[in-house]
Amino acid sequence: MSMVPRFKDKVAIVTGAAGGIGLATAVRLGQEGATLVLVDLHPRPLHDAQAAVLKAGAAGASVSICDVSSESQVEASVTEAVRQHGRLDVVVNNAGLMSFKPLEQFTGEDWNRILGVDLLGAFFFTKQAFMRMTAGGAIVNVASIHAVRTTPHVAPYAAAKAALLSLTRSTAIEGRGRGIRCNAVLPGAVETPMLRTNPEVRGGVEHIDPSELAQPAEIAAAIAYLASGDASIVQGASLVVDGGRLSEL
Ligand SMILES: NC(=O)c1ccc[n+]([C@@H]2O[C@H](COP(=O)([O-])OP(=O)(O)OC[C@H]3O[C@@H](n4cnc5c(N)ncnc54)[C@H](O)[C@@H]3O)[C@@H](O)[C@H]2O)c1
Repeated sequence: MSMVPRFKDKVAIVTGAAGGIGLATAVRLGQEGATLVLVDLHPRPLHDAQAAVLKAGAAGASVSICDVSSESQVEASVTEAVRQHGRLDVVVNNAGLMSFKPLEQFTGEDWNRILGVDLLGAFFFTKQAFMRMTAGGAIVNVASIHAVRTTPHVAPYAAAKAALLSLTRSTAIEGRGRGIRCNAVLPGAVETPMLRTNPEVRGGVEHIDPSELAQPAEIAAAIAYLASGDASIVQGASLVVDGGRLSEL
């Protein structure tokens, strides 16, 4: 049986696409025929990502230097993406930032910075998507198991990810009438720079069982499912992708 690639003729924006889960997602969507818009902060790793995505078989790939926490930069990024590629079908809100401090050391500025990237960044792209996507569009928010349970020293991150699940629900119910779906994935521990630089993990405070450790491509597979027509009736869902970590008492 030959199957049409799920993202043929589709244009997908992936934020935080320069590495980790974002790059794996862009590669996966590219393997399945998408044209990618790769959003991140720095040009060099983005150009490497662009080469990797094209090598994987993407129909096209452009890069967009954009701080997702800036509404004007997000608006410019999406405007340029639609100008270049003519349409917008998928947005993966993956860019994320984690910061580690005891609760009493966090400042309001820390909170604003983390909420700005992890929550408002997703909102800004969702707002643009609502203005530009047609029926059949899909938004996938990359949350975390920290949205549900958490560890010490990551209060703003955990709060941002919990709020991102709430945004996913709001987007899903308002997207319904427009034919736009919105769902979230909740990764557990994923083998990325973010995990390896986590001081709690490095210090052994947070123990990662090897059986729970995901490769970025395994998270990308779940994101691709939710972004695809295979998930046509999945709306407002939170898909935990964590090797069973959250289920265990
Ligand atoms: N690695 C894990 O174990 C894990 C677990 C659960 C959830 N997540 C989530 O997965 C997502 C991807 O994380 P990752 O593990 O691949 O981390 P990563 O640090 O490798 O990638 C995050 C990317 O986001 C980009 N980014 C950060 N701030 C940005 C901004 N303001 N504007 C644009 N881009 C920005 C970074 O440059 C980076 O390329 C994040 O939302 C993270 O919270 C990761």
